[in-house]
Amino acid sequence: MTDQWWKRAVVYQIYPRSFADADGDGVGDLRGVIDRLDHLAELGVDVLWLSPTYPSPQADNGYDISDYQGVDPLFGTLETFDELLAAVHARGLKLIMDLVVNHTSDEHPWFVASRAGADNPRRDWYWWRPARAGTAPGTPGAEPTDWGAAFGGPAWEFDEKTGEYYLHLFSAKQPDLNWENPEVREAVYAVMRWWLDRGVDGFRMDVINMISKTVNPEDGALPDGRRQAGAAYADGSASYLCGPRNHEFLHEMHEQVFAGRDALLTVGEMPGVTVDEARLFTDPARAEVDMVFQFDHVWADRGPDPRTLVPLRLTRLKAIFNRWQTGLAEVGWNSLYWNNHDQPRAVSRYGDDGPRHRVASAKMLGTVLHLHRGTPYVYQGEELGMTNFPFRTIDDFRDIEALGPYAQAVEQEGRSPEDVLTVLRARGRDNARTPMQWDASPHAGFTAGTPWLAVNPNYPQVNAAAERADPDSVFHYYRRLIELRHTEPAVVDGDFTLLLPDDERLYAFTRRLGATELLVIGNFTGGFVRAELPDAAAWSSAELLLTNLATAPDDLTLGPWQAAVYRRRG
Ligand code: GLC
Repeated sequence: MTDQWWKRAVVYQIYPRSFADADGDGVGDLRGVIDRLDHLAELGVDVLWLSPTYPSPQADNGYDISDYQGVDPLFGTLETFDELLAAVHARGLKLIMDLVVNHTSDEHPWFVASRAGADNPRRDWYWWRPARAGTAPGTPGAEPTDWGAAFGGPAWEFDEKTGEYYLHLFSAKQPDLNWENPEVREAVYAVMRWWLDRGVDGFRMDVINMISKTVNPEDGALPDGRRQAGAAYADGSASYLCGPRNHEFLHEMHEQVFAGRDALLTVGEMPGVTVDEARLFTDPARAEVDMVFQFDHVWADRGPDPRTLVPLRLTRLKAIFNRWQTGLAEVGWNSLYWNNHDQPRAVSRYGDDGPRHRVASAKMLGTVLHLHRGTPYVYQGEELGMTNFPFRTIDDFRDIEALGPYAQAVEQEGRSPEDVLTVLRARGRDNARTPMQWDASPHAGFTAGTPWLAVNPNYPQVNAAAERADPDSVFHYYRRLIELRHTEPAVVDGDFTLLLPDDERLYAFTRRLGATELLVIGNFTGGFVRAELPDAAAWSSAELLLTNLATAPDDLTLGPWQAAVYRRRG
């Protein structure tokens, strides 16, 4: 049984392509990360999660891997990686890798062999299926199922050579590995052990609740999906999210890879996972993963048709967090995040990114999130209050998840380009991927060359140098939040009680550990709001540990986007 050090930890995610470019080619690299490690040390985080830097054709910015045991020349070499790892460890931090093993690149030698012929020994490492019965292979509608791929088009790609289709839940450049084949699992475990032997401290596992699938019947009678009105393809996720052998595979991985190794951190990315499933995945007694990334709270602003936007209702957001906090209270553990490389910027999404309230609302969102029970993740630039990008046309986007679905929606489904763009501007992943804003020099100090994706034009105001120099910045506030987790045990271990569940303006909860009780309140509006708590009088005289405005709340009346954390004992 390992020490659960990660309960006290804060993780910082680096998306290397957009973090810091040392060689001037416009794309961030590992040398850039090494050069900027002091930023993380100053912030006080404990773990660095590095998004993929493996060799890759970069169809999905490295989430399409063609060699699991190397570094793409775009980012550096294995030697630079080792240097980074040593520098991270020298600062007392840990480093976790991104593990992308639901799929490989179509240029990975495993897939190249698999597609070489139906009798190739690697054929069964991927999901090959014949055309739907009674159809002409390779024609529209002949795909084995009607499932759509996450990045547009069908989830099956026809291969002329053998007349069969392979499954790709993401792009056609990302064929899905067949985890039913024990050779595949062994090959993945060997890769993982190789990185651990090199000294890495764990893994963030990409879409790891998609590895067990129901794609079995060989007779063509495969399960079709659920289809939204007007959609060109169906949602097949019932056949591949948290499939029948998911727990078994993760437990086997634990035994084959992690058992006997200490002080690791494993976190599984799991879109669509339920609380009940997550409790099983993160129950230490079952030995699967330490924690999971669930998606409910970042899907709180989408309608029943996921392609649409609905305004955020705070009561809905609170109910979601409450369900997760209470569901994993006794067994299991939560991860906490607003942002990563797949989500729009939190301050633009759930706060107010205008000049008046950007700083306050970024701090308020950070407070509410970090004071929950779980391990917080900070995504590069979140600690600066970086905002969404003012995208105008589809030509401003680079992300495969924007371009593919846009083409499908406009060309195949006849939706209006402006409607599709409205959703992309609000939700598009490129919002998170614009270069890190280091200072007020050209391209925000990210590169001496031309950045691969434009820098947000607000960089002269919003940048790390300016924020480090300003004690009232989002950066220094995040530093204090992280410090609070390291110094106040109730933040780590305290139980969680949601207050005011029906209030659309305030987010309030308590955390209690022994004789210590914390009260956390966040104002999700630009007005003054009083927290009508039963024991308001007692709380208003409690010790104010942290607030984000110059003036403390008077009688629990919070100012615009104000957050406050109180502590009382006894
Ligand atoms: C995960 C990654 C995302 C990627 C996808 C396919 O959701 O976070 O960036 O596109 O998996 O690998």
